[in-house]
Amino acid sequence: MALEKEIKRRRTFGIIAHPDAGKTTLTEKLLLFGGAIQEAGAVKSNKIKKGATSDFMEIERQRGISVATSVLAFEYEGKKINILDTPGHKDFAEDTYRTLTAVDSVIMVVDVAKGVEEQTEKLVEVCRMRKIPIIVFINKLDREGRDAFDLLDEIEQKLHLRVTPLSFPIGMGYDFKGIYNIWEKNLTLFNGNTRKKVAETIEFKDIENPELEEIIGSKQAETLREELELVYEVYPDFNQEEYLNAELQPVFFGSALNNFGVRELLDCFIEIAPTPRPKESDTRLVYPNEKEFSGFVFKIHANMDPKHRDRLAFIKIVSGTFERNTPYLHARHNKKLKFSSPNAFFAEKKEIVDVSYPGDIVGLHDTGNFKIGDTLTEGEIMHYKGIPSFSPEHFKFINNADPMKSKQLEKGIDQLMDEGVAQLFVLELNGRKIIGTVGALQFEVIQYRLEHEYGAKCTYENINIHKACWVDPKDPKSEEFKDFLRVKSKFMARDKQNQLVFLADSQFTLQMTQTKYPNVKLHFVSEF
Ligand code: G4P
Repeated sequence: MALEKEIKRRRTFGIIAHPDAGKTTLTEKLLLFGGAIQEAGAVKSNKIKKGATSDFMEIERQRGISVATSVLAFEYEGKKINILDTPGHKDFAEDTYRTLTAVDSVIMVVDVAKGVEEQTEKLVEVCRMRKIPIIVFINKLDREGRDAFDLLDEIEQKLHLRVTPLSFPIGMGYDFKGIYNIWEKNLTLFNGNTRKKVAETIEFKDIENPELEEIIGSKQAETLREELELVYEVYPDFNQEEYLNAELQPVFFGSALNNFGVRELLDCFIEIAPTPRPKESDTRLVYPNEKEFSGFVFKIHANMDPKHRDRLAFIKIVSGTFERNTPYLHARHNKKLKFSSPNAFFAEKKEIVDVSYPGDIVGLHDTGNFKIGDTLTEGEIMHYKGIPSFSPEHFKFINNADPMKSKQLEKGIDQLMDEGVAQLFVLELNGRKIIGTVGALQFEVIQYRLEHEYGAKCTYENINIHKACWVDPKDPKSEEFKDFLRVKSKFMARDKQNQLVFLADSQFTLQMTQTKYPNVKLHFVSEF
């Protein structure tokens, strides 16, 4: 019974946005509502500022912040809300993709002036693959921005979403008067004097009521009525089932900085957002209310303290209750492990917890047992699916620069790859190692960490690779596949899971290869 009750009150989600759209600001306002923090400015942005690429103190500092803000939990209206932080910097996009395997829903922040930006497109693509329900928050309404309908159009067209506004702005920028909440049927007015605070929220069920003129002026009342008519005409009615199936995305407008429209967003969110969802494993679908505990590792964080080299593995609990000091099965190693000090995260603090429930994240101290995607159970052998790798964007050979330290280098590379810092490919032909990353920054991070954490030195050598493609032949015994392997032997490699990968050196080669070998499918994602 306790389990069912705890599942029902949990909401685990991530906020996604292009950098600067207002993710940190919104997170902070949500925490303020939950009473998890007392003042603005308490949540540090984990943005890596431009120009900081070779400032390793900065990288270390950011890593510290990102542990502190990895999970921000708070209570609101009897609900336990877990916000999973997603790095905004595009060089850490892979981290964000993995975090999205652990969320049950997403709030997407869009800047009213900038509209849909590149990073958002990619993140929504990942959400689509996983059918993650999305609520859209259009931010910075206190500034001059784009027309609301234009923005909604852009979101539909660029992101292929089907939107329905649940609130609508009255004016914008200098003329911003407030918001009509379609969901709650009320008006929330922006304070005209200070333009900072919510003046009041007025229940307003009938938009035709002439009082509207008195409140917001006749011109804006007329515009609002027309716009709402259009909203009701053009956009589908909100339907929770469609939202939960990721077929419909509700939209809210507001200003995170002014804490305007945020309560409306949060109140709707706790009502409609999904409780912890079932998850597919390689053997079956696992439901949160099953008695036996299971969970998976979606993030590994190395300890910042050089005296304690242990790592923190972040586990999302999928089913049952996780208890401290109870032996659980590490399914990949088929080995039981016990955890004496699992951490739970509350706003910016971490504390040792005795019991956690589905939807929760626990941080387990790890001395190198875990890698991303590992499954823990009470005894059942199964592996959760769905932590794919995407083709990296940058590739370099990695060489050992200190022959006396080759063991340390091996271990370092191995552990950093388990953490998901980058991907490793080993050429079939000669065993040379290639590191693939999403951003150029990771090469420096790896070099720095190998030296400081493992005492190993490496150098890089350029290599011309356009994309890594996971190879999926229709018939592995066919002449076509044998020919492919022979002709492309110089470009064949294995990833860390020993999957076969074709490293295409250009878009042209890729296209030619696809045409020549139609029965050898090439995927840009490791899971297909
Ligand atoms: P991010 O985490 O998505 O990268 O964005 P973040 O919250 O850090 O916000 C980016 C900038 O946008 C910040 O300004 C922030 O104050 C501002 N901002 C967020 N929400 C609103 C809003 O509703 N209205 C307006 N006008 N601005 C907003 P900054 O100058 O870059 O940083 P700071 O010096 O204010 O911290």
